[in-house]
Amino acid sequence: MNTYSTILVTGCAGFIGSHLADFLLAEGHTVVGIDNFDPFYDRSIKTQNLAGLLAQNRFKFYENDITDEVFWANFSENIEVVVHLAAKAGVRPSLENPSNYINTNINGTQLLLGWMVRRNVKKLAFASSSSVYGNNEKAPFSESDSVDNPISPYAFTKKAGELLNHTYHHLYGLDIINLRFFTVYGERQRPDLAIHKFTKLMLAQQPISMYGTGSTARDYTYVADTVQGIVGAVSYLRQHQNVFDTINLGNSSPVTLQQLVDTLYELTEQTPNIHYLPMQPGDVERTCADVQKAKQVLGYNPQTPLHEGLKRFVNWYKANH
Ligand SMILES: NC(=O)c1ccc[n+]([C@@H]2O[C@H](COP(=O)([O-])OP(=O)(O)OC[C@H]3O[C@@H](n4cnc5c(N)ncnc54)[C@H](O)[C@@H]3O)[C@@H](O)[C@H]2O)c1
Repeated sequence: MNTYSTILVTGCAGFIGSHLADFLLAEGHTVVGIDNFDPFYDRSIKTQNLAGLLAQNRFKFYENDITDEVFWANFSENIEVVVHLAAKAGVRPSLENPSNYINTNINGTQLLLGWMVRRNVKKLAFASSSSVYGNNEKAPFSESDSVDNPISPYAFTKKAGELLNHTYHHLYGLDIINLRFFTVYGERQRPDLAIHKFTKLMLAQQPISMYGTGSTARDYTYVADTVQGIVGAVSYLRQHQNVFDTINLGNSSPVTLQQLVDTLYELTEQTPNIHYLPMQPGDVERTCADVQKAKQVLGYNPQTPLHEGLKRFVNWYKANH
């Protein structure tokens, strides 16, 4: 096995994808990226995410849609491993337009898998989500827990992606790891996510809207830790045959929404001004990852305490807005 690989990153102009591509290039790999600048959030944010990548000669970018069959029919890069991050993300917007989510997250994934079979590309790390656990009663959430009760269209599409991956593993021998990310945050975080929205409003001295009483909890994971887990999966896939696995990438340290908001008020040095609103349909009560398997199989080792990660996010936000 060569030390260096050529890795396809779908969704590479997004939040996690751009961090992952930065890391892989710094490690010496070659990265081929695909992104269609989906209008879910502003294109200019994604072009900014890409700017540093485009300046590097081991990076090649395709502005294309993963649901475009003609694109896949003509796409002929030699790839060793695929990290599939391109998706319609976000729980709440998936309630408004489920068919878009199904098209990108399921049909798009199927076209990618079909391309892999045709091109004899054998290795895939797939971005799944903690949302597949729904309102799981048991904590921490373990990969062996049932995930048959998704409570949003988004969660359904991620579970469907995991199942589709199993089918392609079984039929065509693809080696696949489904990675379930738990609320990733950090520099370049998507503007629709709570930490980003709250920081923006706090720094503008505007009130924030909080859904529920503040008791909902999330297992926030700093993006560099998530990237370390993805890279662990890429290495594992490169070294092993006949792989199909599903692995949590979380932090095992859930924080309530109220604690999160209090920390952000402290870091932005603003006076709390909170409007409490009812819980949103589709939102789960809490997430909490069991990361034993990630530690054992991938050498995953999340390191960043929430306070430190949030400080880096707030500093990044101030420097870039
Ligand atoms: N951020 C999180 O907390 C989190 C949690 C769980 C799972 N995930 C998953 O991780 C992945 C990356 O999430 P993110 O937060 O970086 O989101 P993001 O929206 O910043 O990145 C996704 C990228 O995919 C691209 N994309 C969307 N549809 C596409 C299409 N049809 N063709 C090509 N590109 C397309 C978008 O333009 C975007 O740049 C997603 O699959 C998401 O569902 C994220």
